Amino acid sequence: MNDIRTVHFGRPIIGDEERAAVMEVLKGPILVHGPRAEKFERDFAAWTGAPHAVSVSSCTAAMHLLYFSWGFGPGDEVIVPAQTHTATAHAVELVGAKPVFVDAERRTGNIDIGAIEAAITERTRAIAIVHFLGVPVDMDAINAIARPRGLKVVEDCALAIGTRYKGVHAGLLGDAGCFSFYPVKHMTTAEGGIVLTREAALAAKLNRQKAFGVDRHMGERKIPGMYDVTMLGYNYRMNEIEAALGIEQIKRLDWILEKRERNYQALLGALREMEEIVLFDEPPAGYVSSRYCLSMMLKEPFAQKRYEIVAEMNRRGVGTSVYYPRPVPNMTYYAEKYGYKPGAFPNAGWISDASIALPVGPHLDEEDMHYISTTIKQVLGAFK
Ligand SMILES: Cc1ncc(COP(=O)(O)O)c(C=O)c1O
Repeated sequence: MNDIRTVHFGRPIIGDEERAAVMEVLKGPILVHGPRAEKFERDFAAWTGAPHAVSVSSCTAAMHLLYFSWGFGPGDEVIVPAQTHTATAHAVELVGAKPVFVDAERRTGNIDIGAIEAAITERTRAIAIVHFLGVPVDMDAINAIARPRGLKVVEDCALAIGTRYKGVHAGLLGDAGCFSFYPVKHMTTAEGGIVLTREAALAAKLNRQKAFGVDRHMGERKIPGMYDVTMLGYNYRMNEIEAALGIEQIKRLDWILEKRERNYQALLGALREMEEIVLFDEPPAGYVSSRYCLSMMLKEPFAQKRYEIVAEMNRRGVGTSVYYPRPVPNMTYYAEKYGYKPGAFPNAGWISDASIALPVGPHLDEEDMHYISTTIKQVLGAFK
């Protein structure tokens, strides 16, 4: 066995620049409603090429706010992938609408586009997709289903900073894209999110509804403290400390993505020929993955022993995760509410049951990638 090395699954990259930016905020009186959240929106919009960006408190808040803003409610349905984080479905539930789950395709883990039409009813209002592990969904195909039927298209881009489809950044391929800045994502604001959209009117409405539905923000008030409330809204703002962190993080994004690509390729090269595992297809030309992580699916009989294999890899210092631990419809809340049975989403279930997610983040280097691949080979060898 090699010397043990600690390889964390995810680590935010926080430097002196971030620390100084946060301290700068704390030296002043403005913690919310300040210039930094607006600068962060402008910078993220510029980096992605988005006409409009609305900062919020998380990706979950972003998606919830979007459905709320469109007036979705009881009786409405939204198509969502079964293989995703529960937030994608919760955002629909939170407005009283019903998430209608569609299985994953095995080659990429993305939503099975061929199964979407059968899930559409006269109550369907939107199709939400997730760029699974950062690999773009075929958005032309999604739009071809959604547009003729007048359905909205939402991109859950929680894993998709740097994801591009035919030259366009994720989040700009449907009606709106929702991003997460949770610590293990490509960049962080501690907690935080943003909505990208091409629609000025939608951005303006989200801006009001993320702040109680008041008709004017602090800077727009002629008499301090005086405002009207013209619509219902939440308190989903991003604060100035988070935005200050985010402004510095955006400056690192090109380097972060380069590093992820390099780490991913190193790991892919080492694992590609292993007969004990299955890997997702590499994205075709025109599809750029954000390389969130590298998930490998264990073949039988190894899949049966996944927990022991994970425990041994962790014991040898290799941090792992699972994306995602169960198809969302098989999580207790959804299974009890809608009566979904185990096995109802076989491809999503296979990914949940057989996969181990491996790190490729910018906190790791070539030697770490080598350590991960040799550890996998040794551990699987020991389970033969
Ligand atoms: C696909 C997906 N959507 C949404 C979320 C939720 O993001 P947030 O924690 O910013 O609300 C996550 C979190 O990991 C996610 O993986």
